[in-house]
Amino acid sequence: MSTWLTNAWYVAAWDAEVDQAPLARTICGVPMLFYRRLDRSVVAMRDACPHRLLPLSMGIREGDSIRCKYHGLKLGPDGKAEEMPIRTDPVNPSICATTYVTHERHRFVWVWVGEAAKADPALIPDLWPCSTPGWTFDGGYYGIDCDYRLMIDNLMDLTHETYVHAGSIGQPEILEAPIETVVKDGRVFVRRWMPGIDAPPFWRSALKKEGLVDRWQVCEFLLPSAVMIDVGVAPVGAGANIDSHDQGVRGMVVDFMTPESEGSHHYFWGMARNFDLEDTGFTARFKAQQGGVFMEDKEILEAQQQAIAANPDLRLQAYRIDEGGVRARQLITRAIKAQQEGAAAA
Ligand code: FES
Ligand SMILES: [Fe+2]
Repeated sequence: MSTWLTNAWYVAAWDAEVDQAPLARTICGVPMLFYRRLDRSVVAMRDACPHRLLPLSMGIREGDSIRCKYHGLKLGPDGKAEEMPIRTDPVNPSICATTYVTHERHRFVWVWVGEAAKADPALIPDLWPCSTPGWTFDGGYYGIDCDYRLMIDNLMDLTHETYVHAGSIGQPEILEAPIETVVKDGRVFVRRWMPGIDAPPFWRSALKKEGLVDRWQVCEFLLPSAVMIDVGVAPVGAGANIDSHDQGVRGMVVDFMTPESEGSHHYFWGMARNFDLEDTGFTARFKAQQGGVFMEDKEILEAQQQAIAANPDLRLQAYRIDEGGVRARQLITRAIKAQQEGAAAA
């Protein structure tokens, strides 16, 4: 059984990554190329020439079309042949590269890998902090050599911060606060409430106030493969609680894991915040810092993936801290099963 859903929207790229020049990226095992038409709309096409399978991403853009770099077959943005290698030959209408449905939202280009007729933009995961007024959002991209679900496990269990990120964001309070895992409305939440603590330096300077704070971390998993982490602090007594907390400063770490192969994924990461919106220096500094933190995760997860391959007789174990990841994997497995049953019934 495949480990990923295909009838789902995945982030293919940051919107700014896709332009006139073809971008090659394998999504759920399918090599694709992405480029913008002259009107800026995005084309996603199988990255293999219908003739001899040379990657079309090596080709030459001509208007809205692409010409293969090998023998010059020219394909339109709908994937259909427009010109044969010998230009006087009549175009064979059956020559066609598969194209995929795309949509732009929340600063990302999304692609639907499975049945095109089911590609409803309403199903795009609601990464609201990336596009809501009163919030600002920026981030980056890493290619990571591990199963995308290991990253989901990692993000749904922040106890790792204390060790993996000891030199950056790790804090002993994280290990002392109890966690609560809730599955609700097809999402998984791992909630951690840290009342009346001393704010860590990052949040102290964001809040611009002295005194004890209430701090929260709420990890939220959304199908097919997103994790948003609601983080922040509010002054004690301001009325913040684990369900509602806009009294202080709030950030949303936004992560999307797009499977590339069984052992690798595209990791899109960023942070949205509702404070110091105009401070572009802060945005740039924070992005650099966050990139450093996620590089620490990359190192751990790639080593974990190699260890899994090197120890085929051993299985991953789940302790209490892993409940969020376990629940998220259950949602994925159920959704894949439902898709397969739907396909079998059709
Ligand atoms: S491989 Fe593309 S035209 Fe021959
Ligand atoms: Fe981490």
